[in-house]
Amino acid sequence: MNIKVAPSILAADYTRLAQDIRGVEQAGADFWHIDIMDGHFVPNITIGPGLVKSLRPVTRLPFEAHLMISEPLKYIDKFVEAGADIITVHIETISEKDVRHQARLLHGKGIKLAVALNPATKAAKIKNICDCIDMVLVMTVNPGFGGQKFMAEVVGKITQIRSFFKGDIAVDGGIDALTGPLAIKAGANILAAGTYIFKAKNKRKAIERLRHG
Ligand code: DX5
Ligand code: ZN
Repeated sequence: MNIKVAPSILAADYTRLAQDIRGVEQAGADFWHIDIMDGHFVPNITIGPGLVKSLRPVTRLPFEAHLMISEPLKYIDKFVEAGADIITVHIETISEKDVRHQARLLHGKGIKLAVALNPATKAAKIKNICDCIDMVLVMTVNPGFGGQKFMAEVVGKITQIRSFFKGDIAVDGGIDALTGPLAIKAGANILAAGTYIFKAKNKRKAIERLRHG
């Protein structure tokens, strides 16, 4: 499988967000991973649909909205209207029935649906709904903050998910040149990374190292 790299703009310099995004796009990013936090599901607050909308003309790359929010059903449409191409909801925040329903609605609009799992959430939690989703996002840190340490104990779960899910498997949290290859070896094909890419002196090299191990 081709490896894709999705930089998380959480680690960008917010005083020069557009320039940072253009620079990392030119350095070879595949799509943007945008971390949406509500202060309820996670102990931090970040980006809303307004900012996503104003970033849409800045880049040609697709947007993944990683919704770390307690009530995703209230906000999915707002992020779609703001320009999201992939909506990622946490399985801890939504029923199987609603995942199926949202998959139908989003696919009708040409939008992909991904489901994320916290480190403590078992692979089995997504088994029944994996036929209707496009991507699984395996959290390799507890969501809430960038710059945390990769949790190696989650790697086994990637292998478990790969055994029953043939679509895209992304990992998110603490991904760098050492941990990325562990996730890929276990079956992931997309690496979401914030700190490693945005804080790198040579962003092209950082992305290349992630892509090629
Ligand atoms: C964590 C976020 C991650 C985070 C990754 O809650 O979902 O996307 O920005 O940042 P790094 O790569 O710095 O761990
Ligand atoms: Zn994320």
